[in-house]
Amino acid sequence: MNARLAQRPARLVVTGGAGFVGANLVRWLLLHRPGVRVLTVDALTYAGNLENLAGVLDDPRLRFENADVCDADRLGRIFADYQPDGVLHLAAESHVDRSIAGPAAFVRTNVHGTATLLDVARAHGGPRVVIVSTDEVYGSLGPSGRFSEDSPLAPSSPYSASKAAADLLALSYHRTFGQDVVVTRCSNNYGPYQFPEKLIPLMISRALADEPLPVYGDGRNIRDWIHVEDHCTGIVLALERGVAGRVYNLGGDAERENLAVVCQLLAELGKPESLIRFVADRPGHDRRYAMDARRARAELGFSPRYRFELGLARTIQWYVEHEAWSRRVRDGSYRRYLEDTYRSRLEAAAPCAV
Ligand code: NAD
Ligand code: TYD
Repeated sequence: MNARLAQRPARLVVTGGAGFVGANLVRWLLLHRPGVRVLTVDALTYAGNLENLAGVLDDPRLRFENADVCDADRLGRIFADYQPDGVLHLAAESHVDRSIAGPAAFVRTNVHGTATLLDVARAHGGPRVVIVSTDEVYGSLGPSGRFSEDSPLAPSSPYSASKAAADLLALSYHRTFGQDVVVTRCSNNYGPYQFPEKLIPLMISRALADEPLPVYGDGRNIRDWIHVEDHCTGIVLALERGVAGRVYNLGGDAERENLAVVCQLLAELGKPESLIRFVADRPGHDRRYAMDARRARAELGFSPRYRFELGLARTIQWYVEHEAWSRRVRDGSYRRYLEDTYRSRLEAAAPCAV
């Protein structure tokens, strides 16, 4: 166990806690590490949805700060006040297609935001920072082999290039300043609260509405799927047990072709495969990802619990049961959640003594 985390009920900062992985991670921490205190920093971009934290926002162990990770002054005040023992950095622009349409926001948040966060952490006692990176930094695989932590970085998209920059910056801060950082690189996640622009929630919500399902190219691209809860476990294990300056691959040992995933979810939903449309391929589309996570297994005790077919079936059930959540995200009305349920409470709250 990282010594600093063992000293007292740990105070953790989670950036990006209103997003998909971040919201699952906040929930995971409150459930599985009951002594912990969590402060989440989130700018609430289009991908940030406070409704993802519904039911835990009132938990006295959780504090929410609507702040941008590029805002060094604001982050500095938050760190000075909260004095975190650990930081889990997830805030990011995360969608490959958006990065192709407009790379600038990706450079800003993923590169500049990560450097800002690392600087602020270093200036405030140097709590361990876990940088939540991605398998996409390694680029594309041919039909065989898997990515190890020593595979060369060869990102294909502006998204993955900005994530590679962030994770290399963190490693450079370790070498240069001795800063306590750990990097996790994880494969594609699925599970509750994922924004329906990513493959699985997009296809579920469109199939439920009997809308055509756009499959890029020939649909034979392969992703190595992991349930978001298993990813969260891996991030926390890296925080607690990881070696400073080290990289840990996390993956679910579940390589599947996109078309197979889409066909499975159509079958689960009782919808016809005639909804599938093959559309123009994504530029620079990586063909295959596959993770070798043996280091995380051996050094962190990481062991994913979910079998893909079961995890996907449960995920589909979650989206069916939460169709109102999907509808509010799809029609944009989730943006009002902040106004309706949170702004009034924020205004009523006593100012924080910094
Ligand atoms: P997401 O897009 O669902 O959530 C991102 C969150 O970050 C949102 O709440 C958004 O409001 C917030 N954010 C964006 N810009 C910000 C800024 N400037 N300041 C503060 N907050 C900001 O993304 P996700 O899928 O939950 O991914 C979270 C992290 O995990 C990312 O770093 C991503 O690269 C990494 N990751 C994701 C996956 C995956 O499959 N989803 C896999 C590996 C790694
Ligand atoms: P995505 O969920 O965007 O994740 P990533 O690009 O980060 O892996 O896409 C997963 C795979 O699904 C990827 O090969 C692209 C493909 N895809 C489609 O075929 N159609 C779609 O509408 C989307 C969003 C993705």
